[in-house]
Amino acid sequence: MLIRESDLTPIERRLVDEAMRIRPRAYAVYSNYRVGAAVADANGGIHVGANMEGADYTLTVHAEQHAMNAMRLATDAKAVALAFAVESPAESPSPCGVCRQRIREFAADLKMPIVAVSLAPDLTIARLHRYAFDYLLPHSFGPENLGK
Ligand code: THU
Ligand code: ZN
Repeated sequence: MLIRESDLTPIERRLVDEAMRIRPRAYAVYSNYRVGAAVADANGGIHVGANMEGADYTLTVHAEQHAMNAMRLATDAKAVALAFAVESPAESPSPCGVCRQRIREFAADLKMPIVAVSLAPDLTIARLHRYAFDYLLPHSFGPENLGK
């Protein structure tokens, strides 16, 4: 759903700022599609990631997976909100299916907000969309399916 900056909760605001801050650290020399991501854990910690490509063209780490893995390195706490920022021709940019599954592993709540930040060419915010995670990955497979 399209939202305004004034609709962001304080934690979402921090995540948007952090995703935009870290995005220039993306190593996306092949696609030139730089993605920054930031996730908040249930203790208020913020963890960031950016996509990391390789000359092999296959070993790419996606920004959202990078942020989720950074969270796991720092804490056992689960994720409560995530934002990612990208300059994309898409009206509402979207995390890929594999990133959705990675978020699923550590989601505190399947309704957790995912905020998509569409950047303008001057890297200001063009549009914001917010989705409940389970809208992006309904009826998902996760730790509970294995009794964890
Ligand atoms: N990318 C991400 O970082 N997250 C996604 O979920 C979508 C794709 C990156 C991978 C690659 O470096 C570039 O965007 C183009 O696909
Ligand atoms: Zn992905």
